[in-house]
Amino acid sequence: MTGLILAIDQGTTSSRAILFDADTAVVAVAQQEFRQHFPRSGWVEHDPEDLWRSTVETCREAMKTAGVDAGGIAAIGITNQRETTVVWERETGRVIHNAIVWQDRRTAGFCQKLKADGHEDMVAARTGLLLDPYFSGTKIAWILNNVEGARGRAERGELLFGTVDTWLLWRLTGGRVHATDATNASRTLLYGIRSGEWDDELCALIGVPRAMLPEVRDSSGLFGETEADLFGGAIPVAGIAGDQQAATVGQACFRPGMMKSTYGTGCFALLNTGETPVPSKNRLLTTVAYQLNGRRTYALEGSIFVAGAAVQWLRDGLGIIGSAPESGALARQADPAQEVYLVPAFTGLGAPYWDADARGALFGLTRGTGPAELARAALESVCYQTRDLLEAMRGDWPEAASKETVLRVDGGMVASDWTMQCLADMLGAPVDRPEVLETTALGAAYLAGLHAGIYPEPDRFAEGWRLQHRFDPQMAEAERARKYAGWQDAVRRTLTA
Ligand code: G3P
Repeated sequence: MTGLILAIDQGTTSSRAILFDADTAVVAVAQQEFRQHFPRSGWVEHDPEDLWRSTVETCREAMKTAGVDAGGIAAIGITNQRETTVVWERETGRVIHNAIVWQDRRTAGFCQKLKADGHEDMVAARTGLLLDPYFSGTKIAWILNNVEGARGRAERGELLFGTVDTWLLWRLTGGRVHATDATNASRTLLYGIRSGEWDDELCALIGVPRAMLPEVRDSSGLFGETEADLFGGAIPVAGIAGDQQAATVGQACFRPGMMKSTYGTGCFALLNTGETPVPSKNRLLTTVAYQLNGRRTYALEGSIFVAGAAVQWLRDGLGIIGSAPESGALARQADPAQEVYLVPAFTGLGAPYWDADARGALFGLTRGTGPAELARAALESVCYQTRDLLEAMRGDWPEAASKETVLRVDGGMVASDWTMQCLADMLGAPVDRPEVLETTALGAAYLAGLHAGIYPEPDRFAEGWRLQHRFDPQMAEAERARKYAGWQDAVRRTLTA
């Protein structure tokens, strides 16, 4: 077999390797979970060696399943959990600290200080981001300030920083390539999304020596070749994008106004706004959707930290379902007369509230409230949060308000028909579920395959996107407005400021 594309999807809870053929059909999949480290409340770490090992092992397993050797693979595309921060030694490749994961809140105090000192407007104008511990910059500074001797070594050029794509690329190429793509760079707080370059003033403000930063490149192009002994022959790495941006590509949201929302642990909605970055008045993020041939396409992004995690809580925390797919069936049995709201601020609230100190709350409990009402409240909370993002996007980008919005969805939760119907009802907009649900991996494969000449230009690739089911809103407008007002009230009572 020739001309397969290998997508590496290094996510928050597992590493996956997926082989696609020239028609974008999935040929083989391998997946490995790895350990999560929670050294303190609000801290989340990964061992970068686990990320590396599970990536190599899943690639080998997928190749074995498909019966293909390195010569049969035209290119590798990498997509990754974003913002997660790795620092290692240039000479030896040894990491100097565990990876600090995007969910980690340890730099909340530093972010607060930068905000109090009046820096947020400048940071937002240049990076499109907010001063929140979510992003990489303050995590790098934390490592340099807390590992003995690290700051001096970083200044002398002895230490390298990377988001997970960069870490994997560096290892895959035997330490020959230290690079990233513009989508991952745009999540660091150090990268000018308009200039397309690392910003010296931001590096100085946050305390990150420029010498440790990777080269920023297009999302599609030759990054380097893998060491021959890893997979029995060298394979070109030809595509890189952060996982939410890769899903945007995999959903073929190439035209301004197109929007996708991915429901994994969290939920991340991206609206393509074209080649001009749109600043947000409503506390959304402005981010790079992809960079091709030196041209950046931008998106407005709404990031919600808890989506599928609310379903995990029903299963592991409350024990009221045995597996995630049961949640929709249970919610369906809920008493329509009860109005129970869950605000799942388990790790604070992301967009558009950005309240790191808020914690989860339940409202409207009665003696009649049971598992079914809780399940419904958890699933509805994901839909209400998506509505929050859509409202913010409409406020930020008038074109989104004037056109009918269609939301393309993917991720584990979208398998539930009940939840998708609820989403369409709460949004008052159609929700499209595609045939291929491996959109994140497909996006990475596409970026690599585009360079390798396996996949066509974006417009032709978009023609191959296939709808599996459209969910049209069925709820009466007055009911939708009443329920959403109840949600907004619940959020108001949960916020700390
Ligand atoms: O920004 C964080 C996001 O990239 C994480 O995605 O799918 O690994 O939870 P996921």
